[in-house]
Amino acid sequence: MARAARTFHLTTFGCQMNEHDSERIKGLLRALGLREAAARSDADVILFNTCSIRESADQRFIGHLGEAKRLKSERPERIVAVGGCWAQSMREQVFEMFPFVDVAFGPGQIHKLGEVLVRDSLEAQAGFFEFEDFSAHLPAERARPFQAWVQISQGCNCVCSYCIVPQTRGREVSRPPQEIVAEVEQLAREGVREITLLGQNVCSYGRDLPRGQRITFAELLARLDAIEGIERIRYTSPHPKDIREDVVRAHAELASVCEHIHLPVQSGSSRILKRMRRTYDRQRYLDRVAMIRGLVPDCSITTDIIVGFPGETEEDFEETLSLVEEVRFDGAFTFIFSPRRGTEAAEMPDQVPHPVKRERMARLVELTQRVARERAQRFVGRTLEVLVEGPSRTDPERLRGRTRHNKTVNFDGVAQAGELARVRIASATSTTLSGEEVLMARLGVAS
Ligand code: SAH
Ligand code: SF4
Ligand code: F3S
Repeated sequence: MARAARTFHLTTFGCQMNEHDSERIKGLLRALGLREAAARSDADVILFNTCSIRESADQRFIGHLGEAKRLKSERPERIVAVGGCWAQSMREQVFEMFPFVDVAFGPGQIHKLGEVLVRDSLEAQAGFFEFEDFSAHLPAERARPFQAWVQISQGCNCVCSYCIVPQTRGREVSRPPQEIVAEVEQLAREGVREITLLGQNVCSYGRDLPRGQRITFAELLARLDAIEGIERIRYTSPHPKDIREDVVRAHAELASVCEHIHLPVQSGSSRILKRMRRTYDRQRYLDRVAMIRGLVPDCSITTDIIVGFPGETEEDFEETLSLVEEVRFDGAFTFIFSPRRGTEAAEMPDQVPHPVKRERMARLVELTQRVARERAQRFVGRTLEVLVEGPSRTDPERLRGRTRHNKTVNFDGVAQAGELARVRIASATSTTLSGEEVLMARLGVAS
């Protein structure tokens, strides 16, 4: 082992894809005999799995990297390793700008980390950035025994003008279906009840596979639904341009596919959507929503919205507000546009001044929260199936879990983590429900 490394510390930034990759990084390091250190200052190998989606993500990471530099100067035999999307997008500069970094690697090169760490010495600095393999091929260390991420594809073929991901994760590559099915069967044997399928654009899954292997995303859902023991299937994210009736029908017809679709809209203005290169317009998005409501009336719909995209006028922004009113989203992640290096939108001349972005963001957040709160009232009085995750974060006397609609529930009850409980909902805010376990029904489910 290089420099007798015995312990590691990993900090993860970014999306579920990175969380998944970090579970694989941990699994790999453990297989190599390393233990996880409780604190960064105790570790022989200091790792970061990074994100570059917005400038704030970069800044947060750079702060942590400063601490790693200090720790390395205190004990120079320490290894500092940086993986993920920031590393990938900075591959030309990373060693020059941050000479204390020993190893840098992109999201398609996680397996190489093992090779580097088992060498006798770290040769100068190592950087690995070509996509070679799915991190899903490495052993995982899952945070919860009953839930798992399942990577179905890597990369993205879209060209959204604001987005850095195509640069950091490369072209879309789908995993063969039989491999995904085998992984999920294994997870089910290990006690996993809920899986979340991960891809940048899950609805284009399979298009790049050879003819004999090629299946659609809806067919993949059906194959996974058939696996005994998997009670809940989620996925993120579908692209509005690619979601079709077959996928929406899967929510109605397959018992394990949950009543929740996260369908990122980004803007309610067709003019801005065009400049974003999203390849759908407002009406087409609304048509998709109508299809979902028609086939799965109680489905939760959540979204991502960007405010202050270059050229966004007050009228464009008001179209976003009116779209939120019209769709009535169950929840929304809202972001201030952040110019990203190497993207088309960063170079657009008509950037929106920051105070205008902030003011629009405040109005949007107020609206999305009000609409989400109103939508959540439909659950009050109902008894919902909740997958118990553990004690409530705000009150350890209570339990926390998630409904099929992806709402967090805090409740009084006796169920164990990993069980499906029946919870009668008494009240609802924009993000959380509150209620009480219905005990007879729970015994029925457990038996
Ligand atoms: N592949 C996913 C999204 C990945 S990024 C999809 O297309 O659905 C998650 C979200 O970050 C995006 O949906 C978008 O709302 C936001 N985002 C991406 N780039 C951004 C940027 N430059 N500035 C602000 N928000 C951005
Ligand atoms: Fe980025 Fe667009 Fe691909 Fe999503 S679909 S990862 S927003 S380029
Ligand atoms: Fe995810 Fe951030 Fe990369 S959002 S795909 S980790 S840039």
